[in-house]
Amino acid sequence: MVQPRRHTWLVRTLATAVLAWGALAPAHAAPPSKPARLGLCAACHGETGMAQIPGAPNLAGQKLDYLREALKQYRDGRRNVPLMRAAIGPVSDADLDELARWYSAQTLSVPSNQGNP
Ligand code: HEC
Repeated sequence: MVQPRRHTWLVRTLATAVLAWGALAPAHAAPPSKPARLGLCAACHGETGMAQIPGAPNLAGQKLDYLREALKQYRDGRRNVPLMRAAIGPVSDADLDELARWYSAQTLSVPSNQGNP
């Protein structure tokens, strides 16, 4: 009979496609999408976490848990830096988390002369 053989072929093809997709998927793992609140931070820390003004730290590639904790410390005043407190005043926990993930996922690219004019 022809029908069962065709069926087998179809199943094999589909199984191969599914396996191939599974193998490829990690390579396509998307970086975090741009946080809605990134505009609040970019003037000083840059969109990619490279500082734009003197005195602001680079955030690119920093540890996620460190960024999260630092942001909470500014918000609740344990880090009492008016500049940063003003910047994150209206930002929710979910937004802080999104921002921390974003900056943590960026690649640090420090110019070789940074900090040594
Ligand atoms: C007006 C400039 C300015 C804006 C806007 C700003 N920051 Fe900052 N940020 C600073 C400065 C200056 C510091 C260093 C403060 C200190 O001495 O603790 C800092 C520190 C930080 C730190 C701590 C880094 C570390 O190594 O401890 C984090 C995290 C951070 N900012 C994230 C953000 C995020 C997220 C936003 C947007 C919601 C933001 N900042 C907006 C200027 C700014």
